[in-house]
Amino acid sequence: MVKIIEKTQIAPNIHSCTVIAPDIAIKTLPGQFVILIPDEYCERTPITIADWDADKGTVTFIFLEIGATTQRLAELKIGDEIYSFTGPLGKPFEIDNYGTVGLVGGCYGIGGIYPVAKALKEKGNKVICYSEARAKFLLYWNDKLEEVSDEVRYSTVDGSLGTKGHSFDLLEENLKSGMKPDRIIAVGCTYMIYRVAEVTRPYGVKTIVSMNPVMIDGTGMCGACRLEVGGETKFACVDGPHFDAHKINWDIIQSRRKAYLEEEIISNERY
Ligand code: FES
Repeated sequence: MVKIIEKTQIAPNIHSCTVIAPDIAIKTLPGQFVILIPDEYCERTPITIADWDADKGTVTFIFLEIGATTQRLAELKIGDEIYSFTGPLGKPFEIDNYGTVGLVGGCYGIGGIYPVAKALKEKGNKVICYSEARAKFLLYWNDKLEEVSDEVRYSTVDGSLGTKGHSFDLLEENLKSGMKPDRIIAVGCTYMIYRVAEVTRPYGVKTIVSMNPVMIDGTGMCGACRLEVGGETKFACVDGPHFDAHKINWDIIQSRRKAYLEEEIISNERY
């Protein structure tokens, strides 16, 4: 069990939560995740680690309140304990001096790109973040992202901040205008990261995306998180969750994402 010491709703249905987890904080690297269970009746849920402090022994994560388990998680208060909290899991992002790196984040992925931007900046890269939401009031951590980036480019679907549209539209515009990034990294919903992959494909820009399939054990044993990359079966939990976006079989991803849709709706209604 881990104790919640900070919890804030940072945008409608999006929460930031900090827990005391020193064993995890001391080992975490950018891009890793935890699998948590809010209480003994909930399912196991993988969540990206957005920030951590090895000295204080704290771990921060951002989550979207979307199904029964994340609703239960959202109900927990400061001082409450999360029933199970396992990590850090997965391989970290490769951090090197690539030159110019574009980081695309939407929804929980805005928190997800923060530690990666910070690590890449410390390595000497020029870091350009793309932060997207449906509207300005749904964006968060703008200050934190700006602190660790050379530039943050905002896009909102309603045009209330930055460019009107999605981050992948803005990225495409930038590529068309001659921007030549050495690497693009995207964290967020499957649709967004897929669109980023398709935007960069014709330009041949190396693109790494953070995959978010259903996971159960998170240690390579159950096979629930399998996906096809470069014609080979991979497990997102142990081989990833970061993969070359241009080698992923996206058709399989789309069909597997919907496998439990009906059960998710029923579970939500019952909850
Ligand atoms: Fe079970 Fe990856 S979650 S193999």
